[in-house]
Amino acid sequence: MLNGKAALVTGAGQGIGRAIAVEIARQGAAAVAVADRNGDTAAETARLVDDAGASSVAITCDLRDRDQIEAMVTTAASAFDGLDVLVNNAGIIETALTDTPTVDELPEDVWDAVYEVNLRAPWLTTKFAAPHLRRSQRGPNIVNAASVSGLTGFPHGPAYCTTKGGVIQLTRVTAVDLAPAVRCNCFCPGVIETPLSRAFIDRAEDPEAFRQAMISPQLIGRLGRAGEVAKLACFLASDDAGFITGGVFVVDGGATSWMGVRSHDSNSV
Ligand SMILES: NC(=O)c1ccc[n+]([C@@H]2O[C@H](COP(=O)([O-])OP(=O)(O)OC[C@H]3O[C@@H](n4cnc5c(N)ncnc54)[C@H](O)[C@@H]3O)[C@@H](O)[C@H]2O)c1
Repeated sequence: MLNGKAALVTGAGQGIGRAIAVEIARQGAAAVAVADRNGDTAAETARLVDDAGASSVAITCDLRDRDQIEAMVTTAASAFDGLDVLVNNAGIIETALTDTPTVDELPEDVWDAVYEVNLRAPWLTTKFAAPHLRRSQRGPNIVNAASVSGLTGFPHGPAYCTTKGGVIQLTRVTAVDLAPAVRCNCFCPGVIETPLSRAFIDRAEDPEAFRQAMISPQLIGRLGRAGEVAKLACFLASDDAGFITGGVFVVDGGATSWMGVRSHDSNSV
């Protein structure tokens, strides 16, 4: 449970970030700052947070901009008179930005964009949030969104995989540098049903066949749900995880636990 805590969640306008913001509120947090580049979707999530019983503030922030990141942290900490939990959730993938996403053809500006959102922004947000988190008396901690692609490579994601590997290391060095006051952990989703994964699957020639191929390395034959990732993130953010820091946790239907493939019929649940 997250009783009384004040949290900031980035990329919370949709998908996993929205599910985390709402679950944090459901689990008894006092307040959730909902940040996203898209102010309209951030405001929608903030209403869901209110409905779930926490105070909210919606913040429009482009995480590629250092000054906007600093302002986002200041706004959240001022609104709630402090900050206890930071969730660095926002992330982008190069297939959304280019038709040439392989390592030998990726445009340099696309590499920079993915790097800035996926790795530089979590670091800068951590840097600006650290003084507020150090002052917290309510089990302060950071939860980062990594990915199974930070543990293993996959096609058409050179910047994505590299930056997610970086998030895992950022998690560990944050845990070291901010210990013992502030814990830091990350979650590594496999394929989760969100706008990001839908767009990734829909760009295939045969999206249904590609969807099946995506889940075939899993032991559980379906896409993951954003709410399932949110439960893990909330556990890591809670005082129940008080002895856990520098940890890397997969939520991937078993995909990274073996080297096989399975055929799952489309009716699997
Ligand atoms: N969906 C999956 O299968 C999956 C798998 C592994 C890891 N992840 C990671 O989980 C996190 C959430 O993924 P998702 O599937 O919910 O993504 P999504 O694309 O559905 O949502 C991401 C949110 O981040 C926001 N965002 C993007 N760029 C931004 C910027 N520059 N500034 C501020 N906000 C910005 C978007 O507006 C959006 O609301 C990401 O870090 C992603 O890499 C997702």
